[in-house]
Amino acid sequence: MGNILDKFKEDLSVALDYSKNDKIRVGIIGTGWIAEAHVASYKKCPDVEIVACADLIPGKAEKFCEDNGLDVSKIHFYPSHKEMLDVEELDCVSVCTYNMTHAECTIYALNKGVNVLLEKPMCVTLDEAVAICRAEKASGKVLSIGFQPRFDPNMKMVKKIVESGELGEIYYIQTGGGRRRGIPAPFGTSFIQKETAGIGALGDIGCYSLDMVLNAIGYPKPLTVTGYKSDFFGKSAKHSNIPQYADIFGVDDFAAAFVRLEGGIILDFRIAWAMHLDTPGDTIILGKEGGLRIPSTECWNGSIGGPMTIYHDVAGKQVETIIPEIKSDTDNFYLKIRSFLDASMSGGEPPVPSSQILYNQAIIDGIARSSELGREIELDIPEI
Ligand SMILES: NC(=O)c1ccc[n+]([C@@H]2O[C@H](COP(=O)([O-])OP(=O)(O)OC[C@H]3O[C@@H](n4cnc5c(N)ncnc54)[C@H](O)[C@@H]3O)[C@@H](O)[C@H]2O)c1
Repeated sequence: MGNILDKFKEDLSVALDYSKNDKIRVGIIGTGWIAEAHVASYKKCPDVEIVACADLIPGKAEKFCEDNGLDVSKIHFYPSHKEMLDVEELDCVSVCTYNMTHAECTIYALNKGVNVLLEKPMCVTLDEAVAICRAEKASGKVLSIGFQPRFDPNMKMVKKIVESGELGEIYYIQTGGGRRRGIPAPFGTSFIQKETAGIGALGDIGCYSLDMVLNAIGYPKPLTVTGYKSDFFGKSAKHSNIPQYADIFGVDDFAAAFVRLEGGIILDFRIAWAMHLDTPGDTIILGKEGGLRIPSTECWNGSIGGPMTIYHDVAGKQVETIIPEIKSDTDNFYLKIRSFLDASMSGGEPPVPSSQILYNQAIIDGIARSSELGREIELDIPEI
């Protein structure tokens, strides 16, 4: 009889485990510029404890934590992601490294059973993206990609307009963005060197423009790409905004592409860190019932650059409907972190799933390869 009743006793090992994990144990991999935004948001979460930080540069993680008001006596420091993940029992990590180490850090963390928030762009190549998605699937853990514009009401409005059916069936999209002179080198050269960045404007800001429109239309699979990329400004001591780095500039500063998507949709794309022009133009989404114009925007912060316009016919008349820009005070960086934590702890759907961003990365990779080959290529994206 006693044995039968034992079956209904509380399992204390589980209870102990839970109390040990009372706070979400977070580690930061890569303590550079963007890690500051991650830490600022984690600090707003009372259920989070930052317990470990790793950076390849000796002393950088320690100084980073001091500068960002963290109690360094409570944090363990490591010389790379491997040492940290081999030793620490973490619930979640932020991968805030430069692009070229996104894949290895993310895959290592997932293999260790840790949930990952991975900064954008997802990685550099399609092969890496596929390996990341496979590691995520095998781990059963949550992986979310760091696209903070997704949480902005204006970006959500773009998707709502498309989903409302107001535009009808979508058949053509033009998107992209750019700067007249804006090659980034905020705290060093990790964005512009081949060994650290791997890709330039194409991945850095191109991924946001692609996400804005692809997310709105439900991320159809990309099929073919004709791509072009160049580096005239970065390599020019005359025209670069960072001429002191002309000799080491090793990525693209401009890219353009013509992409065919499943469902017969055409995507016309261009992106620039630098060019002899202020903007490559507005984003337009054409459907059989209406067209949407989104003013030129870099969109990394969720901005749509001004009021949007829907062009449609009402009672036989051609009319325009203005959609005002929403004055938003949402903290998109905080929402990106909080939604990742909530998904991780509940085992829920990642807020920005890798299954979508795999297609974003496939286009980026396709543009780079097509440009090198000088011809259109078919995209071969394996099922995960
Ligand atoms: N979401 C956004 O708005 C936003 C803004 C800026 C940058 N980013 C992205 O964040 C990433 C990092 O950018 P950043 O400006 O912070 O770069 P950064 O060069 O300032 O910092 C990256 C840090 O990662 C470290 N690192 C690299 N590999 C590592 C490894 N294996 N283990 C431990 N540390 C490692 C480097 O030593 C460096 O200190 C980039 O991919 C960038 O695209 C996103």
